[in-house]
Amino acid sequence: MGFVKNGRIIYSEIPTGYPVPGKTLVYDESQTIDLDNEPLHGGILVKVLVLSIDPYLRRRMQEPSPLDFFPPFKVGEPLDNSGVGVVVRSENPSFKPGDHVLGRFLFQQYLVLPDPKLRKLDNREGLSLSAYLGVCGVPAQTAHHAWREYAQPKIKKGDVLFVTAASGAVGAIVAQLAKADGLKVIASAGSDEKVEYVRSLGVDVAFNYKKVSTREVLQKEGPINFYWDNVGGESLEAALEFAAQKATFIICGMISNYNTKEPYNVKNLQQLVWREITFNGFLVGSLMPKYDDEFFATMPARVAKGEIKYKEHFVKGLENAGQALLDVLSGENFGKSVVVVSEE
Ligand SMILES: NC(=O)c1ccc[n+]([C@@H]2O[C@H](COP(=O)([O-])OP(=O)(O)OC[C@H]3O[C@@H](n4cnc5c(N)ncnc54)[C@H](OP(=O)(O)O)[C@@H]3O)[C@@H](O)[C@H]2O)c1
Repeated sequence: MGFVKNGRIIYSEIPTGYPVPGKTLVYDESQTIDLDNEPLHGGILVKVLVLSIDPYLRRRMQEPSPLDFFPPFKVGEPLDNSGVGVVVRSENPSFKPGDHVLGRFLFQQYLVLPDPKLRKLDNREGLSLSAYLGVCGVPAQTAHHAWREYAQPKIKKGDVLFVTAASGAVGAIVAQLAKADGLKVIASAGSDEKVEYVRSLGVDVAFNYKKVSTREVLQKEGPINFYWDNVGGESLEAALEFAAQKATFIICGMISNYNTKEPYNVKNLQQLVWREITFNGFLVGSLMPKYDDEFFATMPARVAKGEIKYKEHFVKGLENAGQALLDVLSGENFGKSVVVVSEE
């Protein structure tokens, strides 16, 4: 093995709008690593195979706030996020070379982890490793856990859900969970191709929000009992306008605001009162202790059986991670965005 370059993605500056590949996020190859002799300090050496690109990474590119759950990235240091790797060497009896591990990794080709807090993947279902970043990973945990927590206890016959960014990693799972629970599902996405895909998941109404007015669709197909918000802004405003009495809003994300200085001003929040709407903002990490065991015991099998479908958007090479993030934040991804760092 010997010395190899150890490329990484450095967070270089706080962006003012969209992150700029090569400026906000810079690929750096100045470091090397000796794969045979790098000290492990009782831990493991991991070769990173795939890394997840998620919208919330943008949220971590800001000045620190004492109120924030997620610490911001530190300028001059590598990004980190969920990934899957393979153990190259180990001094830890719980891991052996060849084991596949899922966890939070720096955006770096090789990592020494003295105290690895990683889930070993037995992958009995034989899924692709990237599936553990999407349909069996955090986006699907997000969909599953919040659906279980906020929607399932309230579902009544004939209920209607509206979900935005429905071709994406979270939205596509939400749409399928809702269909499995018998809801009528209205789903929006940002291109005709994405709409076709969402339709193939079995939703009742799918539309391209860039061509068709969300208000008009909800007026015709609503009122909605559940709204799963991935984007905020005008979609949230339309959902409030066409919400049923005592509707449940699951506020998962507001991607339309992540890169703007002036967030969209939602004008009809008074509907929260008149329609007695329950707003549930959440972070998936808070629901993991309650639902993770159930999720990992059931979701990989459902995916392997084809009960839950998914689509992945692969970006080859760690050096392209900055562009991959920009693509997710501007809707250029089509499916769960995954950076392929290395082949095994
Ligand atoms: N609360 C939590 O714990 C948690 C956990 C994970 C994710 N999330 C949130 O869930 C949402 C979806 O995440 P994901 O991983 O599934 O991403 P994703 O849907 O795979 O990708 C993001 C999608 O958002 C849409 N989008 C981008 N810019 C937009 C804009 N200005 N207005 C409207 N739509 C825009 C694009 O789809 P279109 O082309 O269809 O517009 C884009 O493909 C995000 O808001 C994310 O922050 C929350």
